[in-house]
Amino acid sequence: MIDTLPYPFNEEIKGIAATSGVPLGETLLLNIFYEVFTVCTSLVAEDPHGNLIHARNMDFGLFMGWDMKNQSWVITEKLKPLVVNVDFRRRNNTVFKSTNFAGYVGMLTGIQPHVFTLTMNERFSLDGGYIGILEWILGKRDGMWMSFLTRSVLENATSYAEAKKLLSDTKLLAPAYFILGGNQSGEACIITRSRTHNLNPLELDVKQGRWYVLETNYDHWKEPLFLDNRRTPAMKCMNRTTQANISIKTVYDVLSTKPVLNKLTAYTTLMEVSKGTLESYIRDCPSPCMPW
Ligand SMILES: *[C@@H]1O[C@H](CO)[C@@H](O)[C@H](O)[C@H]1NC(C)=O
Ligand SMILES: *[C@@H]1O[C@H](CO)[C@@H](O)[C@H](O)[C@H]1NC(C)=O
Ligand SMILES: *[C@@H]1O[C@H](CO)[C@@H](O)[C@H](O)[C@H]1NC(C)=O
Ligand SMILES: *[C@@H]1O[C@H](CO)[C@@H](O)[C@H](O)[C@H]1NC(C)=O
Ligand SMILES: *[C@@H]1O[C@H](CO)[C@@H](O)[C@H](O)[C@H]1NC(C)=O
Ligand SMILES: *[C@@H]1O[C@H](CO)[C@@H](O)[C@H](O)[C@H]1NC(C)=O
Repeated sequence: MIDTLPYPFNEEIKGIAATSGVPLGETLLLNIFYEVFTVCTSLVAEDPHGNLIHARNMDFGLFMGWDMKNQSWVITEKLKPLVVNVDFRRRNNTVFKSTNFAGYVGMLTGIQPHVFTLTMNERFSLDGGYIGILEWILGKRDGMWMSFLTRSVLENATSYAEAKKLLSDTKLLAPAYFILGGNQSGEACIITRSRTHNLNPLELDVKQGRWYVLETNYDHWKEPLFLDNRRTPAMKCMNRTTQANISIKTVYDVLSTKPVLNKLTAYTTLMEVSKGTLESYIRDCPSPCMPW
C-alpha cells in the first residue's frame, strides 16, 4: 500500500521506518490510524486588539484499551512521550511549525508564522464515513487523505484565503473539521467538510458578538452527542472569560477544564499568529476525570 500514497508522504514513511527500525507496515498503519481516531477541541479567539489566538486539545486513543489499574487509556499514555514540536525549514528558514507525534507525516496542528494557523478535528459522520479510506485500500483512489491536505496547505499555501479555498474545495477520502485562523481581525472559520463540500461555514464575526469559534467533533449547527458534550462547557468557560480577558493564559485555562481536558488528552497547543509562536504541553487529567 505504501506506494499508493502520494509523494512526499510515501518516501517519508519509508524513511521513518528505515531510521527508527519500526517495521514499515506498522509505521504506515500508525500514520493511517491518526486519520481515524482523533477526538479533540479546537478554538480560535480574537482579543480586543484584533490579535488571534488558536488553541487545541488533542484527544487520542478512544476505545483502544483502558488500563483499569491507573485509570488511563493505553494508547494515550504511550503517545505522550512521542509529542514533538517540529520546525519545518526551507533553506534554513522556518516555513511552518507543528505539534506532532514522532513518526507521523500528516499534520493535525500547525502554524505558518504571521500568515495562518490550522488544526484538524475528526468528523464522525454517516455522510461519507470512512468508505473513501476503505476504497483507497481496495484500489479506488478518489480524494485526498485529510492530514496530507493539512500538511500540503501548511507547506505550500501563501495566505489565509488560499488555505481556506484548498481546505474547502479539495476532494477528501473522509469527512473532517478544519479550524483555520488568519492573520487579520475577523479571519477565522470552521470548515465542516463532507468528502466534497464545505457545509455551512462558520466565520468569526466580532461585530455580531462572535469573537471566537470553537469546534469539538460535532457539526456546529447540531447538538453534540449528550454522552460527549465538551462543547457546552468549553463555550461556557469562554463566555465567562470574556473577550476583554482572553489571552494565551486564559485559553489554556479553558482547555484545562474538565471534561474539555479528559483522559484522552495527550497535548494542548497554543498558537499566536502575529508572534509566530506555537507552544505545547503534554497533559495529564488526574482522577476523577472523564474518560473522554
Ligand atoms: C498507567 O500505566 C501504564 C502501564 O503501566 C503506564 O505506561 C502509564 O504511564 C500509567 N499512566 C499514568 C497516568 O500513571
Ligand atoms: C540554521 O538555523 C539555525 C537556527 O537559526 C542555526 O543554528 C544553524 O546554524 C543554521 N544552519 C545553517 C546551515 O545555516
Ligand atoms: C509543496 O510544493 C512543492 C513544490 O511544488 C512540492 O514539491 C511539495 O511536494 C509540496 N508539498 C506537499 C506536502 O504537497
Ligand atoms: C498576513 O499574511 C499576508 C500573506 O498572506 C502578508 O502579506 C501580510 O503581511 C500578513 N500580515 C501580517 C500583519 O502579518
Ligand atoms: C456563549 O455566548 C454565545 C454568544 O453570546 C451564546 O450564543 C452561547 O449560547 C453561549 N454559550 C454558553 C454555553 O454559555
Ligand atoms: C479579567 O482580568 C482581570 C485582571 O486579571 C481580573 O481582575 C478580572 O476579574 C477579570 N475579569 C473576568 C470577567 O474574568
